[in-house]
Amino acid sequence: MNNTTVKGFSKLSKEGKIEWIVNKYLGGDDKSVGLLKSYWHEDESVQKIHDEFIENTITNFYLPFGVAPNFLINGRIYCIPMAIEESSVVAAAAKNASFWMNRGGFKSEVISTTKIGHVHFAWYGDFEKLKVFFESIKHKFIEETQNLTTNMRSRGGGILDIQILNKTHLEPNYYQIQAKFETCEAMGANFINSLLEEFSKIFERELNESNFSKEEKKLVILMCILSNYTPECLVRCEVSCSIEELADDPSIDVNVFAKKFEQAIHVANIEPYRATTHNKGIFNGIDAVIIATGNDFRAVEACGHTYAAKDGQYKSLTNVEVKDGQFKFWIEVPIAVGTVCGLTSLHPMVKFAHQLLGNPKATDLMKIIAAVGLAQNFGAVRSLVTTGIQKGHMKMHLLNILNQLGANEQEREKIKFHFSDKVVSHKGVVDQFCKLRGIKNISEINLNS
Ligand code: MEV
Repeated sequence: MNNTTVKGFSKLSKEGKIEWIVNKYLGGDDKSVGLLKSYWHEDESVQKIHDEFIENTITNFYLPFGVAPNFLINGRIYCIPMAIEESSVVAAAAKNASFWMNRGGFKSEVISTTKIGHVHFAWYGDFEKLKVFFESIKHKFIEETQNLTTNMRSRGGGILDIQILNKTHLEPNYYQIQAKFETCEAMGANFINSLLEEFSKIFERELNESNFSKEEKKLVILMCILSNYTPECLVRCEVSCSIEELADDPSIDVNVFAKKFEQAIHVANIEPYRATTHNKGIFNGIDAVIIATGNDFRAVEACGHTYAAKDGQYKSLTNVEVKDGQFKFWIEVPIAVGTVCGLTSLHPMVKFAHQLLGNPKATDLMKIIAAVGLAQNFGAVRSLVTTGIQKGHMKMHLLNILNQLGANEQEREKIKFHFSDKVVSHKGVVDQFCKLRGIKNISEINLNS
């Protein structure tokens, strides 16, 4: 174990940082330097943008950027950008987009766009008295932050509501100022956090200047922060067709399929072990679009999972109804995204992704993302209750295995053809590869060469 520590690392140049890492951790291995540099962008100005996104950048880390065409959403066809490493996700999105394109497409609607944040504080007095006082000074929070809200207000957004909340049922002396915001095309994190910090200062000052007793003036501001749980920034997306229309494979009995599909969603609603995997599959699609469009996938995921547990038990984010010969499948999920600020105006690929989507408004992006999540879940559940998931997964994973083995173009084609009507397994591919090379065992070739 190398216990090397360093002071002032961030002040070193990029080369200096690499040299330090290579010498201290990689035994001076030149190959690593070459590897790291080979991922630098050839255009220095583009590389500089990436360098400055975070601290201590030494190189870039590629993710595949793919597209899923044929997404018919609210009557418009999109080709959707997706950045993700998992082999089968884009293929599944594209396949299921086409499936629903022929059945009326996705109908997405934004239910609400409200964001929320809190000043968390401790206070030691009678809450009813504090509440009356708070109401009397509430206008000051709006008036004294006008300089921070001018631009947002001119775009139709701003502060929607400010309340004081008693949280002492959770913790003695614990209260909150809860504020709600409309942040229009911005995700709004900086806007919200700056306002909350101002609110805390105004509150502290007003309390100090009030005629409250010394004890009542005692206030401990714990923290000022937006909440990534935005249940009021909500989008709903639905697909529907007659049960007969579900057929696209003669081997599938549509009534059996619809019943099994319904049961699978029911299981995800009653069994958190299944619900977690079920929702993970939804986020395969959602995250891929969130990343490609330069949004914060950790925030969107954290929010989605909290929303999935809003009824006291972690459940499916999708639901189905099979009734009177009709199949209706929908998702309701909070998605807080922006289409301006942050990476959207800086990252060249993010700019491209927005262009590809026709430079959507934040609400349009919410609708698109919900459709991708729904398509992904339909595809996963459809595979699970029919062929099983491994058929599609391993077909895509075949390419990863061939890459690991260092198969050449001819070998790849032959092996792909061999498995076109067979179930792919890692061992099966290795065996086939060895057979083609005329070797007994994979250890006979050096995989790193
Ligand atoms: C794999 O990344 C996602 C699935 O497991 C989702 C699911 O089981 O619904 C296939």
